[in-house]
Amino acid sequence: MSNTIKPALPGRRGDRLAGKVAVVTGIGAGIGRGIALMYAQQGAAVIGCDIDAAGAQATADAAAAQGLAIDSLHPLDLTDPAASRRLMAHAADRHGGIDILVNAAAFGAFAWLEEMDFERDWKRTMAGEVDVVFLACQAAWPHLKHRGASVINFASANARMALPLSPALAHCAGKGAVLAMSRQLAMEGGPLGIRVNTISPALVETAATKFPLENIPGFREQVMTKFMIKRTGQPEDIGWLAIYLGSDESSWVTAADFNIDAGATAW
Ligand SMILES: NC(=O)c1ccc[n+]([C@@H]2O[C@H](COP(=O)([O-])OP(=O)(O)OC[C@H]3O[C@@H](n4cnc5c(N)ncnc54)[C@H](O)[C@@H]3O)[C@@H](O)[C@H]2O)c1
Repeated sequence: MSNTIKPALPGRRGDRLAGKVAVVTGIGAGIGRGIALMYAQQGAAVIGCDIDAAGAQATADAAAAQGLAIDSLHPLDLTDPAASRRLMAHAADRHGGIDILVNAAAFGAFAWLEEMDFERDWKRTMAGEVDVVFLACQAAWPHLKHRGASVINFASANARMALPLSPALAHCAGKGAVLAMSRQLAMEGGPLGIRVNTISPALVETAATKFPLENIPGFREQVMTKFMIKRTGQPEDIGWLAIYLGSDESSWVTAADFNIDAGATAW
């Protein structure tokens, strides 16, 4: 990496989310873990969850090592409507309400069209990328509407563009759905004081992207050809925007989609 390219800015202590109660899904890895830790550093009370109990516990332990607390329910499967409701009720009961919902949890299966199995790949991706966002928003809504709250969903560069070498058919459909759903939710939430925005990252180095980066020949190079800034993303690159969108700094921002993608979708 050229030394003129800045690395991701690490999280640091501050008070940008002081007094906020934030539910962050998918804290067991990657972007959800990064946001949970950065939110706690900025003074939010964080309630997390993950289907992967060990991953979520590692995040809670990492917070404790910094003298911070993350309250986590794990294992918890967000494709189960009752589990989603349990998470939101826990946050509201134990912490007095919900101000921010970050829907970072997702599961997507990658396969080319002719190899894609309807049940194993396609339907699991729709549940893992679309149902989880719908169910979490629906379960959180009654708790959010009294608080002037912020919902942050994850679309993707893949909601707008295809990447050569990436068998992302179901993922593209899932993230397109999240993008469209979030716009509608913003419209429904506006009169209630609930803001809803999406973040659309290009490739961020996480558990989800480790496999293609390490196993598909030429994949990293293909990704890099689209990046105007020649490094991959890190969870902290996303975390700083999530802090802004969760805070009152963004109180006039809703129905917006934020590309954090090193310029990949601009040309
Ligand atoms: N990493 C990227 O390059 C990238 C790019 C665009 C969009 N995104 C989106 O950003 C979000 C975070 O991505 P990431 O790369 O950190 O993913 P990740 O796979 O590294 O982490 C996702 C976490 O969600 C959890 N999870 C999955 N399904 C769950 C369920 N049903 N219930 C509870 N927990 C569940 C996983 O166990 C995991 O800990 C996702 O919505 C993803 O689609 C990521």
